Amino acid sequence: MGEDFLPLKGYDHVELYVGNARQAAHFYEKVFGFRPVAKSGLETGIRDRACYVMEQGVVRLVFTSAYRPDHEIARHCALHGDGVKSIGLSVADVEQALAETRKRGATVLQPATVVKDDGGTFVTGTIKYAGDTVFRFVDRSRYGGLFAPGFRAIESPACASVGLAAIDHIVTNVHLGEMNFWANWFERIMGFRNLLHFSDKDISTEYSALMSKVVENGTGKIKFPINEPAEGKKKSQIDEYLDFYCGPGVQHIAMNTADICATVERLRSRGLDFLRVPDTYYDALPERVGEIDQDYRRIRELGILVDRDDDGYLLQIFTQPVQDRPTLFFEVIERHGSRGFGIGNFKALFVSLEREQALRGNL
Ligand code: FE2
Repeated sequence: MGEDFLPLKGYDHVELYVGNARQAAHFYEKVFGFRPVAKSGLETGIRDRACYVMEQGVVRLVFTSAYRPDHEIARHCALHGDGVKSIGLSVADVEQALAETRKRGATVLQPATVVKDDGGTFVTGTIKYAGDTVFRFVDRSRYGGLFAPGFRAIESPACASVGLAAIDHIVTNVHLGEMNFWANWFERIMGFRNLLHFSDKDISTEYSALMSKVVENGTGKIKFPINEPAEGKKKSQIDEYLDFYCGPGVQHIAMNTADICATVERLRSRGLDFLRVPDTYYDALPERVGEIDQDYRRIRELGILVDRDDDGYLLQIFTQPVQDRPTLFFEVIERHGSRGFGIGNFKALFVSLEREQALRGNL
């Protein structure tokens, strides 16, 4: 394998465009345990958008709303609803990241932009990804201020974390027939490699199916599964997403925890809703995955899923969509050696997903 032409240091942040950033920030603080860190808006001299930066572990989410209707952010929200606009990737050299990806065919939407304030120098640049989603390269190595120039600290009482530590992976849904295009795009443009491939034989129920490919970057730190719908008797969950998001976009963000039982217990007590698999799932579980460090009874009570592969096992759980449209949701994951995505859970999960989809009249 050649040299990594796009060395990525990790995720910098994920920015969501939302209808009401103040209320979104409140939800992510009170329910998800994110700490409000910084804000920009009218009071900091930014006239077109309000922006809240929230952190937990090394996960950094940014919520942004437009002040007026004739604004790109407002149009984005009108079309897609609340959703992920930008995936921020940390690089040592934004100029070089743009040059390397442009050379290979990326569409540069924002050339390297240098902003300075008392905190130092902050550099970003943006390329187009699927649909209206973008990748933003960020170099904050010479910046010591809050999130970015133009932001002010949010004074807020201590916020109780639920133990979310880092982003594990970010999943994109694309249209039928586009998965291979995007998997190749990651290889060609970003220097990622193809890690896994799930066919509709692996991921199907009686009614609907999907196909998935997972790409990862040179260091293996950054993983992007890409889903496309497959032909089934009824409408696939991916079709439902594409319908309601009005195009491709981020389906879920998975976040790691060191203690999934404690994390899920806290999230449930704060009112977060999770997908429930049929109770029969748990009857066969000890036999399927063998011995684990966690108590099976507690796993069952909390509705956590377990899967094992050659490298170890993982525990995971999926939230319900976090807005009215059945689009973006979150996953909480605890890994014990396994580098997979819980394929052994897919069938049970999709039966549950379809039950919810049917309740929405979308199956
Ligand atoms: Fe996932």
